[in-house]
Amino acid sequence: MRVPLVAGNWKMNKTVEGARELVNGLLPRLQAVQGIEIVLCPPFPSLLAVHTLLKGTGIGLGAQNLHWEPSGAYTGEVSAEMLKELCGYVIIGHSERRAYFGETDETVNKKTKAALANGLIPIVCVGETLAENEAGQTEAVVTRQVMEGLKGIEADQAGKIVIAYEPVWAIGTGKAATGIGANQVIGDYVRRPVASLFGDKVAEGMRILYGGSVNGTNAALFFSQPEIDGALVGGASLKVDDFSAIVQAAAK
Ligand code: 13P
Repeated sequence: MRVPLVAGNWKMNKTVEGARELVNGLLPRLQAVQGIEIVLCPPFPSLLAVHTLLKGTGIGLGAQNLHWEPSGAYTGEVSAEMLKELCGYVIIGHSERRAYFGETDETVNKKTKAALANGLIPIVCVGETLAENEAGQTEAVVTRQVMEGLKGIEADQAGKIVIAYEPVWAIGTGKAATGIGANQVIGDYVRRPVASLFGDKVAEGMRILYGGSVNGTNAALFFSQPEIDGALVGGASLKVDDFSAIVQAAAK
């Protein structure tokens, strides 16, 4: 049995004070929920404040990016070694980082290895753009992102990885994938390549999330699908009611 995971990717939103307010609003609604993992991923400046508020709650903390080197002359970057004091998780290869910050399958691979080496659970994002989708390239793109992003990782380490399938055309558009459509991509183009890399046992145990315009109303559609083990939530993770509803739906 795979434990469902709901992660909130706050992206570049919330000041430290705003982060505290949001967490204080969420805590009474999230803490009672059993049987799933919940992870909040605020921007770097708020990690320490959110870490303090989440202590003892059972709710996890994640960063949104990292650099693969442990330390050194990399101005503006943050390493896994630094994050592990505060976080249990880190988002890697989000489509916004691939589109705006030059992230590639190769950097995703290096970052994933650095996260694992430091005991962080990587949440590796994959997903095709609208143009790729319309050109019938979903299988080729998503399979390549999985195979290249995760290559050279030991099977015993690979079992800790979480993958988020986030079709770029569904992110922030209000046009979510269908439950059936996301389930098919996750089963055939994500879990199957994972099996070819690491074997069936790792593939069957790996948590694979859907992300892209998930909200309190549509979340249950995704969670009822057999291949979908939770959600990576953007916009709705900034709203107490919406995020709580998504978490409740996952716990059912
Ligand atoms: P939205 O939920 O805002 O569509 O964003 C999804 C996402 O990119 C999460 O990483």
